Amino acid sequence: MVYNNTQMKTLHNPVLLSEVLANLAPQLGETYLDLTAGYAGHASRILAITQNYKSSCLVDRDINSINFLRAKYQDGEAPEIIHENFCGAAFSLYTCGRTFDLILADFGVSSPQLDNPERGFSFQTSGPLDMRMDSSKGETAGDLVNHGSLARLADILKNYGELSPNLSRKVALAIIKARPFEDTVSLAEAVAKILPRRGRIHPATRVFQALRIAVNDELGEIERTLPLLPDLLNPGGRVAIITFHSLEDRLVKNYFKDVSSDGEESKLEILTKHPITAGSLELGINPRARSAKLRVAKRV
Ligand SMILES: C[S@@+](CC[C@H](N)C(=O)[O-])C[C@H]1O[C@@H](n2cnc3c(N)ncnc32)[C@H](O)[C@@H]1O
Repeated sequence: MVYNNTQMKTLHNPVLLSEVLANLAPQLGETYLDLTAGYAGHASRILAITQNYKSSCLVDRDINSINFLRAKYQDGEAPEIIHENFCGAAFSLYTCGRTFDLILADFGVSSPQLDNPERGFSFQTSGPLDMRMDSSKGETAGDLVNHGSLARLADILKNYGELSPNLSRKVALAIIKARPFEDTVSLAEAVAKILPRRGRIHPATRVFQALRIAVNDELGEIERTLPLLPDLLNPGGRVAIITFHSLEDRLVKNYFKDVSSDGEESKLEILTKHPITAGSLELGINPRARSAKLRVAKRV
């Protein structure tokens, strides 16, 4: 895909951008690792300050983001662009002894992933039950829904959709009875018949969240990557992490707490006592910011 300048500007609105800049505090010459570069919303602003392109890396597992980043940085100075899961990329960089002054991870999905029905992340418009961030490999949501066992589906709904054990089993059973499902809307409609609606939130939201987390092993990726971060940071280096739901935030919060409470041995110092959330101005223009939480720590 070829992107024009307007598309490049509007594809994805980065969340908590000014808060990331204020707390990560990039300086001229510093090196930067973006583990979820997406559409370079954060990266382009940070690199514009550091001006250190050649020792910086942008990672994403979505080939559409990677193609965008390659096109964006094809002329002039370019960071290294890595098409991989951030866990694999972080491990390779660590193995090569690479270190950085600044690291950012902005978890979750990008607007183009959500907005393109063909990716299957949304039930607003009908699309195939895919949900893979890297569409080249792995199980799709359709594989899970149409072939998963009752126990597996119920576990996914309980652990990643935070449904009660009873409700998880009930929904899993209903899915099994009504399958096969071809598209996102028919799955959402089947779920809506069983799950009670809570306020304005569509009952299928949690089911879609659960399937997406399972398909992309989202929590496993985070759990395996967090312990690598201190060794990827130079002394005094900062890491900023943006999460979008409590399951992600809990992992980051607990990891930061553990690694900063080792007395003399502590590898990180927490810079944000409480997570930073979006202000009313941003909430008014960027609905994705509603559940975003930013935590920042510094390499001791
Ligand atoms: C919220 S978007 C990031 C947006 C980016 N900060 C920006 O401002 O343009 C999250 C991105 O992380 C990528 N991603 C999520 N989990 C990943 C993983 N485990 N490995 C690599 N990329 C991942 C997604 O493909 C998506 O492009």
